[in-house]
Amino acid sequence: KRHLISAADLTRDDALLVLDTAEEMARVADRPIKKLPTLRGRTVVNLFFEDSTRTRISFEAAAKRLSADVINFSAKGSSVSKGESLKDTALTLEAMGADAVVIRHPSSGAPHRLAASGWINASVVNAGDGTHEHPTQALLDAFTLRRHLSGPGRDLNGRRITVVGDVLHSRVARSNVLLLTTLGAEVTLVAPPTLLPIGVERWPCQVSYDLDAVLAKSDAVMMLRVQRERMNAAFFPTEREYARRYGLDGLRMAALPEHAIVMHPGPMNRGMEITAEVADSPRCTAVEQVANGVSTRMAVLYLLLGGSEPAVAPAAATAA
Ligand code: CP
Repeated sequence: KRHLISAADLTRDDALLVLDTAEEMARVADRPIKKLPTLRGRTVVNLFFEDSTRTRISFEAAAKRLSADVINFSAKGSSVSKGESLKDTALTLEAMGADAVVIRHPSSGAPHRLAASGWINASVVNAGDGTHEHPTQALLDAFTLRRHLSGPGRDLNGRRITVVGDVLHSRVARSNVLLLTTLGAEVTLVAPPTLLPIGVERWPCQVSYDLDAVLAKSDAVMMLRVQRERMNAAFFPTEREYARRYGLDGLRMAALPEHAIVMHPGPMNRGMEITAEVADSPRCTAVEQVANGVSTRMAVLYLLLGGSEPAVAPAAATAA
């Protein structure tokens, strides 16, 4: 496949191939020399029209570990602030010889527009578009879940994943529902009715308004950031009320099965959707998710830019 725009683009076999390749990449990350020559001479552009810490840095680290040249473009400080269009920005990247464009954009659909436009020949990777999708976040979350709940080479068949909070504005939730169900998991969304999107009943998951009712049946609970910047204040309960009904604190964490993990894509609102006690507990995988993001994004870039050779030479793989 040439682009990664939506988690729905991935069949079960595609997703397992990315996750298995990411496991190989993670073994490289454990070696003293973390670099592979696989994408030498290729150019990856990080095209960020919206703020990011984890995604931008991990795509940069991933491309560099595969020996690609990396160009980081941030809309702030670029000619976008002078009114330059996505098309003219894309034509500039094409002139630079980009092989892959990793794009984050506040408008849902911008990566699809770029991929379908014919303005560029590069592979397009969606790094988060508006409230639509964030497929590489879902892949790194699935990678983390598989490591904790199923083991390498396995899918997530029958695993019960609870996704909690501001689903309405969450591209992470949408991509995770699509990918995790493709991998066989049973997903339950928990949110106040005002923070669920119209049409959620057609998503392939369960919906609940009662967090306490689902905790004991969860293999993992994924807390979503409350996205105040995208929100009409009239639709939002007070912070205290939200934390009381939908926040994860120590008491609620204790209601989870012993093997269950707590996930958060970051950035976190400590004290709102998650308490500091939970965020800093050994059961919370937020930091591990960031590390897994590098291996997962290495796998995505490698598979899209088509290393025809094995990602990791057998000798290198066993030397790890
Ligand atoms: N999880 C995530 O997408 O984080 P950033 O916004 O920092 O990239």
